[in-house]
Amino acid sequence: MPKLSVRNLSKSYPNGDNEVVEVLDNISFDVHEGELLAIVGPSGCGKTTLLKIIAGLLEPDEGQVVIDGEEVQPGHNRVGYIFQQESLFPWRSVRRNIQFGLEVANINSSEMKARVDEIIEIVGMEGLEDNYPHEISGGQARKTEMARSLVVSPDILVADEALSNLDAQTRNHLQEEILRIQEKTGSTILFVSHNVDEAVFMSERILIMSNIPAKIIAEYEVDVPKPRIRTSPECLLYRSDILDVLKVEQEKAMSQSRQKQSVSI
Ligand SMILES: Nc1ncnc2c1ncn2[C@@H]1O[C@H](COP(=O)(O)OP(=O)(O)O)[C@@H](O)[C@H]1O
Ligand SMILES: [Mg+2]
Repeated sequence: MPKLSVRNLSKSYPNGDNEVVEVLDNISFDVHEGELLAIVGPSGCGKTTLLKIIAGLLEPDEGQVVIDGEEVQPGHNRVGYIFQQESLFPWRSVRRNIQFGLEVANINSSEMKARVDEIIEIVGMEGLEDNYPHEISGGQARKTEMARSLVVSPDILVADEALSNLDAQTRNHLQEEILRIQEKTGSTILFVSHNVDEAVFMSERILIMSNIPAKIIAEYEVDVPKPRIRTSPECLLYRSDILDVLKVEQEKAMSQSRQKQSVSI
C-alpha cells in the first residue's frame, strides 16, 4: 500500500472577476513508504497549492488525499510541513522551537527532553540548542525546522522549495544533510522544487508538473545508486531530459499567452 495517494485532485481559485482560474487539473500520484519524491514544475503552476491540500491546510474542489489507505480530511495533522519562507518562532530558542509540537500534544517533560535530544543529534544541531533563530545560519534554521517537523513523527514530510533561499554551497550541503537524516529516520519525503539538479541529486522519483491548469506530464524513476555524484553522466542525462520537457512546456505557455494577448488586442 502506498504511504500517500493523491487521487484526482482539482482546485480552482476565484480571480476577482467572478471567474475562476483552474490551477490543479485531476492530479493523481502515489508516494511510497521511505521514498523521497520530487515534484518539479514552473513557478505558479500550483505546487504550493498541491502541498497545502496534501497537508490538510486547504480543501480541494475534487479528489482525495489518502494516507496509509485511509482518506484524510482538511485539518488532519499527519503531515509535517516545511514552508517556503523560514517559519521559526523568533522568541523561542532552537530547543523550544523543536519541542513546540510536543508541547501542543501535552507530552510529559522527560519524554519531551529525550525526543528533542534525539532529533537534535540526528539533524546535527548539538551545541546550538540555546541559540535563538537570529543567532543561527539560514541552513541551520532549515535543519531546526526539519527537526521541529520530525520530532512529532509525521507520516510524511512535505517541503515547499525549502532550500531555494540558500546560497549554492549551503544548499548542496543541506541536500546531503537531508539525505543523511532521511536514511536515519526512514521518513517519507515529498518535496517540490523548480531546481532540476536538486531533484535529480536527491530523489527516487521525479514528477513533472505542467503550467496551469496543472497536470503531471512526465515521471522519471531516478535509477542511480546513492550517494550520487552531481556531475556524473547518469545524473546529467536525467537533468537534460527533464530540462527538455520543461522547455517544451515553457514554450507552450509562451505561445498560449501570445495568443491570448492577440485575442484581447
Ligand atoms: N489564495 C489564492 N487566491 C487566488 N489565486 C491563488 C491563490 N493562491 C494561489 N493562487 C494562484 O494559483 C496559481 C498557483 O499558485 P501556487 O500554488 O502558489 O504555485 P507555485 O507554488 O507552483 O508557484 C498561481 O497562479 C497563483 O497566483
Ligand atoms: Mg510555491
